[in-house]
Amino acid sequence: MSRQDDLKQMAAAAAVDRLQSGMVVGLGTGSTTRFALERIAELIRAGRLERIIGIPSSIQTETAARELGIPLSGLEAHAVIDITIDGADEVDPDLNLIKGGGGALLREKVLAQASRRNIIIVDASKLSERLGTRWALPVEVVPFARAAEERFLASLGAAVALRTRNSIPVLTDQGNLLLDARFGPITEPGRLAAQLSGRAGIVEHGLFVGLAHEVFVAGAEGIRHLQRNG
Ligand code: A5P
Repeated sequence: MSRQDDLKQMAAAAAVDRLQSGMVVGLGTGSTTRFALERIAELIRAGRLERIIGIPSSIQTETAARELGIPLSGLEAHAVIDITIDGADEVDPDLNLIKGGGGALLREKVLAQASRRNIIIVDASKLSERLGTRWALPVEVVPFARAAEERFLASLGAAVALRTRNSIPVLTDQGNLLLDARFGPITEPGRLAAQLSGRAGIVEHGLFVGLAHEVFVAGAEGIRHLQRNG
């Protein structure tokens, strides 16, 4: 395992320590969350976590959790989630996030908004003074609106790229397209989030403003625990 994987695993273990038997747990998406899934499964097998119900944020996570033997359900049965554990692409000092590198931003945000507590797990490379410095902002658009929303994002100053894999457009779990909008450092994430949310063709965007309650950051000096003020 690489050093970065070690760090991701450490952050994941710290977050999973917060879980208690009987909880409904939102399961994020991505390589860091994968370590959390493995840890949850390990504790279930050891009898140290019982009656856990996982709500997956993507088909990818659902498949992985099933394979690991984590009991799953959906929001129809459990509309309130106790704790969601998820990764992030970028984290700013106010614990605002860019998410969606794995394309699961819509369901991840649905889970985050349905959760009493959101715990984010990252390695130190994800910390950034301003969102957008390191990462393009993923924006999910309905295929019908693609050209109009590309133009809109460009009018806000972003360099926009359609996300593709092997030259084929990537489709989200909802069958939508992803535009990666490179804004550079974003000075007012809340304002930009509101502008994007006002567009009919934008289903969701990867700015998670005011949603993370705490972040476990694994780095060379061990685990740092950041909590949102207020
Ligand atoms: C998935 O859509 C994303 O929001 C991920 O949570 C984010 O990209 C972090 O992924 P890694 O843990 O793989 O870096």
